[in-house]
Amino acid sequence: MRKPVRTLHYGLGAIGSLIANLAAKRRDVEIVGAVDIAEDKVGRDLGELAGLGRPLGVTVRPSLEEALQGREADVVIHSTGSRLERVSPQLEEILSAGLNVISTCEELAYPWRRHPEIAARLDELAHRKGVRILGTGVNPGFIMDTIALALSGISADVRSIRAVRIVDAAKRRWQLQRKVGAGLTPEEFKTGVQDGTLGHVGLPESIDMIAAALGWELDGVEESIEPVTAQSTLSSSYVTVRPGQVAGLRQTGWGKKDGEAVITLELEIRLGADETGDRVIIEGHPALEMTIRGVHGDIATAAIVLNAIPSLLTSPPGLRTMIDLPLVHWRSPSR
Ligand SMILES: NC(=O)c1ccc[n+]([C@@H]2O[C@H](COP(=O)([O-])OP(=O)(O)OC[C@H]3O[C@@H](n4cnc5c(N)ncnc54)[C@H](OP(=O)(O)O)[C@@H]3O)[C@@H](O)[C@H]2O)c1
Repeated sequence: MRKPVRTLHYGLGAIGSLIANLAAKRRDVEIVGAVDIAEDKVGRDLGELAGLGRPLGVTVRPSLEEALQGREADVVIHSTGSRLERVSPQLEEILSAGLNVISTCEELAYPWRRHPEIAARLDELAHRKGVRILGTGVNPGFIMDTIALALSGISADVRSIRAVRIVDAAKRRWQLQRKVGAGLTPEEFKTGVQDGTLGHVGLPESIDMIAAALGWELDGVEESIEPVTAQSTLSSSYVTVRPGQVAGLRQTGWGKKDGEAVITLELEIRLGADETGDRVIIEGHPALEMTIRGVHGDIATAAIVLNAIPSLLTSPPGLRTMIDLPLVHWRSPSR
């Protein structure tokens, strides 16, 4: 068996805890540290926090410095936020410590067009320290971008790509239900979209990633977000939504070339969504369509972060995206 990869888990909310939970069950991973600033998490054992029902002997510390304390890690798993401007100081701190990092920050999935200065800074720092940084997850990172690109591998010509994702928010964590506005009035939803607290983050990043990989120079990327209101009372373990209140959202992103939408990403996340699943449609030669059923976004995100470790660690230093990496896939932990 190969030497286990040593992980340090930075950000232990719903996703960070799930990643730690899955990591702890793998024999090829050794958890060496944990960081979170939340008062109710600092000082606790990671095993208890991550729902393992047994201690791991790893205490959650409020800073990277305290979590490291002479320990060595191969990669930091970072999961604290979606906005690059907010999390980039954390990412810079990790890179400055000479550590590789995989983050679920959506805007890190392909930051080159929307945040060129931060992207260049992270890339330069990673090069200087000889380490790598990657943003990934289910979406952005896989289901509406990497999958579409993989499918285009059997295309002789691609004219357009469309991906449609429909998620029943009632089956997902509260953070996601809150993010899609479940239980709000349409007016509150509008305010939340305007101040950036509501809505999925990542469609423009997926579009940019697809365009970069296909070699398409886009005129621009557009996005729209609309509330979907409930027709009848809907409920999840966290919220009850009355008729007329917001059950979730419909969000669309377009990448346009010569005035035509060549990349269209349609996302519907709401309580009570039926016909859930993912579709990728490629217009071209040949015409292709793929449907995937049953992708649970939280598990998929936690899994891809861990599955990406070997692909990232064998990549050259710098800021990497999913299109730079060797194929990310599951591996038997006994290898
Ligand atoms: N790419 C994808 O496909 C994908 C999929 C799922 C999730 N995500 C993203 O991953 C992120 C994490 O998701 P989540 O649901 O787990 O969020 P969450 O429940 O809000 O967890 C974030 C955790 O990080 C902590 N934190 C915040 N700032 C920190 C800092 N400076 N240092 C250390 N810890 C800090 C938070 O503490 P406080 O509560 O005290 O702030 C919280 O415990 C979100 O941005 C989410 O949108 C991406």
